Amino acid sequence: MTAPEQETPDQAAGGTTGGSTGGSTGGGTAAAVRREDVGLDELRRRAEAKRDKAVYGQDSVIACDQVVRIFTADRVEVQALQGLDLLVRKGDLIALVGASGSGKSTLLNILAGLDTPTAGTATVAGCDLLGMNAKERLRYRREVVGFVWQQTARNLMPFLTAAQNVTLPMQLSGERWSAGRAARRSARAHELLDALGIDHLAGRRPAQLSGGEQQRVAIAVAMANNPSVVLADEPTGELDSETASSIFDAFRTVNRELGATVVIVTHDPMVAGEVRRTVAIRDGRTSSEVLRETLTDEHGRESTTEREYVMLDRTGRVQLPREFLAALGMEHRVAVDLAEDHIALRADDRGGDGS
Ligand SMILES: Nc1ncnc2c1ncn2[C@@H]1O[C@H](COP(=O)(O)OP(=O)(O)OP(=O)(O)O)[C@@H](O)[C@H]1O
Ligand SMILES: [Mg+2]
Repeated sequence: MTAPEQETPDQAAGGTTGGSTGGSTGGGTAAAVRREDVGLDELRRRAEAKRDKAVYGQDSVIACDQVVRIFTADRVEVQALQGLDLLVRKGDLIALVGASGSGKSTLLNILAGLDTPTAGTATVAGCDLLGMNAKERLRYRREVVGFVWQQTARNLMPFLTAAQNVTLPMQLSGERWSAGRAARRSARAHELLDALGIDHLAGRRPAQLSGGEQQRVAIAVAMANNPSVVLADEPTGELDSETASSIFDAFRTVNRELGATVVIVTHDPMVAGEVRRTVAIRDGRTSSEVLRETLTDEHGRESTTEREYVMLDRTGRVQLPREFLAALGMEHRVAVDLAEDHIALRADDRGGDGS
């Protein structure tokens, strides 16, 4: 689950004492006096503030906290992201699904460093996506993330061969040309193409490749500088289902064998059904997620269990499935009761506006 972890007592304590005693041995009394000076309530408040900062997204390579993105077109505001929370752990491969217009591409563009949030915080591999200057942003896009778009043509330079397309990002982010460096880059390009099963196509230009082959080259390009995270926006959208499946295998290779964390936006139920974690976005927020687990029984038979969870955000809000609300005629407000091991929601049976 992605619910923010609670602090350990050590972390909370570390938050209060850190930096206050100056490391003096036998300084317990002095520290205690100093603590008294600022007041216990104040210390608790500071500890909590520190704890929240330290804990949220601590083990995550992607951490979005209340991300908002508002577009203004023709003086009309569109809230594409409305306080989106998302944590993705290092080494994960997740699918992002949601209706058209729910904010998937907006989120991916932000994570790719191509757009900035209007509010909130977002970090990827320790880079603060709101705080980067132009130079840092360029380095971020070249080295920290790789991306693959739906349109095969957008991913590759048409006049370069597959191998040249893969070496290009290395040249752009690397030092000056030298024969040794060029040889190393070329070797890496071939290694990547080989890992994706297309090294025999290294000398072809995009126009001489099928859509699926082009997408696999695009994945190699995305991996050229060994990024922490690979983002893909509908990478199989233009492909038939068999080819789509081979592209998905390529992402799995990148994830398992080359160690990249992968986020794939997809409408393809097959892709969404194969990953361990599928996160759904609704109206600019993460609304639910499906976690899958494959278990092997004593006869070696595999079975997959699936469970859908609704996201609980940091302020305690949940977005309930529309069909559940419709089934019980719930709207506007619900009665909330605490039970021993669950919270019960009931339709407001008082009718009217209840005032
Ligand atoms: N540059 C922009 N200017 C104005 N509005 C925009 C802009 N980009 C996106 N939007 C709006 O933001 C909302 C989210 O768009 P987004 O492209 O993120 O959706 P999506 O989930 O990727 O949809 P799809 O599945 O159709 O690709 C939509 O209402 C869209 O019209
Ligand atoms: Mg989109």
